[in-house]
Parts: sequence; structure tokens; C-alpha cells
Amino acid sequence: MSADHLAEIGLRYEVDGEIATVTLDRPDKRNAQTFATWSALRSIGDALPEQVRVVVVKGEGPSFSAGIDLRMFSDEGVPGQGSFGSASSQDDDSLKQAVDKAQQGFLWLRRPDIVSVAAVQGHAIGAGFQLALACDLRIVADDVKFCMKEPALGLVPDLTGTKPLVELVGLAKAIDICLTARVVEADEAYRIGLAEQVVAAGDLAGAVAEKAAQLLSTDRDAAAATKRLLQGASGRTLDEQRAAEGAEQAQRLKALFGGRS
Ligand code: ACO
Repeated sequence: MSADHLAEIGLRYEVDGEIATVTLDRPDKRNAQTFATWSALRSIGDALPEQVRVVVVKGEGPSFSAGIDLRMFSDEGVPGQGSFGSASSQDDDSLKQAVDKAQQGFLWLRRPDIVSVAAVQGHAIGAGFQLALACDLRIVADDVKFCMKEPALGLVPDLTGTKPLVELVGLAKAIDICLTARVVEADEAYRIGLAEQVVAAGDLAGAVAEKAAQLLSTDRDAAAATKRLLQGASGRTLDEQRAAEGAEQAQRLKALFGGRS
């Protein structure tokens, strides 16, 4: 996907060695997201160069992202793209397919071979909040404002955000955040585990670069294997988890010492 095409959609994508950076780049519209954003994000994930180990997701301007482009709820939609505004004339299957397609833009950020880091400043609303939740880590500026606005608009959060939210903050807090659509600011985000780190807005890029360097300091294959273990842990019993540890370690030991006689 060419830089010009991405620019038309409001995205930038750069690869520098082992670090890829995806920037939501429509600051005048607070980085509102469209079908084209999600489709391009998916293409970026599909074509991610093999050497990339860290993916930084950030937003240009005062807001990380104001969520879905509200024109998508109008009958006219976004020019050249469909809209959810004509939902009543579509059957359940095509609506579910449209949601599935949008979700693909976010899903790849969990891949075990990468660590995704969201750099979040200002508003992260709805789809913006969920994009941050799709990342493995969130480093936030002290002006951050997370808001799961969907229920206030008659919708559910459907861009893969509900599972990480519950896993990070617990069911009660997730219900509180979603069903009130209230704003979660930096101090609370850090306290409840939504953010790994809070920094002054001017220090956000530096803090993310430092985290990326830390992430790159470990062994690539061991990091991927460890992420697989950690991701699977909550769905396994202790016995299943220790068996999984053994299986991964057997591969590591073979890779490290297999050549010795
Ligand atoms: N969709 C389309 N355009 C948007 C969106 C959006 N989600 N958010 C902001 N914009 C546009 C505004 O219309 C405005 O455009 P204009 O300059 O042509 O009038 C421009 O971005 C700047 O917006 P302001 O409201 O002036 O910026 P401000 O910094 O004061 O406020 C804020 C930012 C709080 C994010 C506000 O714009 C807002 O509440 N946006 C809507 C958020 C929303 O409801 N998102 C949907 C969530 S649900 C979901 O994502 C599934």
C-alpha cells in the first residue's frame, strides 16, 4: 500500500529496522476512523516485514483518536465507502461480516511475534479506545481521556476491545467504564491497569522509544514463545500451563543447544 494511498485514508506507516510505526494522521478530524482505516490497518499487518518486532500505534495531533467517523452512521456515509447508516436494509450476515472485516484491522496487533505499543494522548474514544486496547501495552500522556462511548450511542464496543478491557481492569470496572461511558483519565488509567506508564505529553515519544528499546533487548524467539505462553495462561489450568511451558522450553533448548553432541 503506497504512502500516498495511506495519506488519503489518514494513515502513515514507517518501518525502521525492527520497529514499525503506524500513525493515525487525520488530526483535523481527531483521527476519526473509517472502513478504509481498518482495511488499511489489516493490510499493514498482513505485509509486516519479518524483521519487525515492535509495532508502535500513535495518533497525530491533540487526540489519539475520536473513534469511528460519525459520518458512517449517516445515510450518506463516508464518500467512496459504505455506511452503517443503511443497516436496516442489510441482513444480519452482511452486518456481521462488515464488523468482522473491521475487526481484522485490530486483531493482528496481538500476534506473538510482535509487541504492539499504543502511544496515547488526549481523547481515545470508542474505536480509538479499542485500538489502544488491541495493543499489548499502553503508554499514555497525562492528558489522556479514555471513553467507551458506544453504549451511549446505542451500540456495543465491537472492535475486539471488550475482552482486553475485562482482562485488564476486571468485570466490575469494565461494566462501570462501558455502561456509564464515562471518561477515564491518566491517574485512574494507571491505577486500574489500563496504562503501563503515564508521562508528560512532551515525553510520550521518548518513553515509547525507550520501551521499544527494552523490548528489543530480549531474544526474538524466546520473546515470541513467552508471549504465546502469557496469552494462553488465563485459558489454561495450572497443569495445562506448565505442560505448555515445557513444550515451549523444549523448543528453546533444542534451538539453543541442539547442535551440541
Ligand atoms: N467523526 C468525524 N469527525 C469528527 C469526529 C468523529 N468521531 N470527532 C471529531 N471530529 C471532527 C469535528 O467534527 C471537527 O470537524 P470540523 O473542524 O470540520 O468541525 C474536528 O474533528 C475537530 O473536532 P472538535 O470537536 O472541534 O475538537 P475538540 O478537540 O474540541 O474535541 C472530541 C475532540 C472530544 C474528540 C470531540 O470531537 C468529540 O466528542 N468527537 C466525537 C467522539 C465520538 O462520539 N466518537 C464516536 C465514538 S463510538 C465509536 O467509535 C464506535
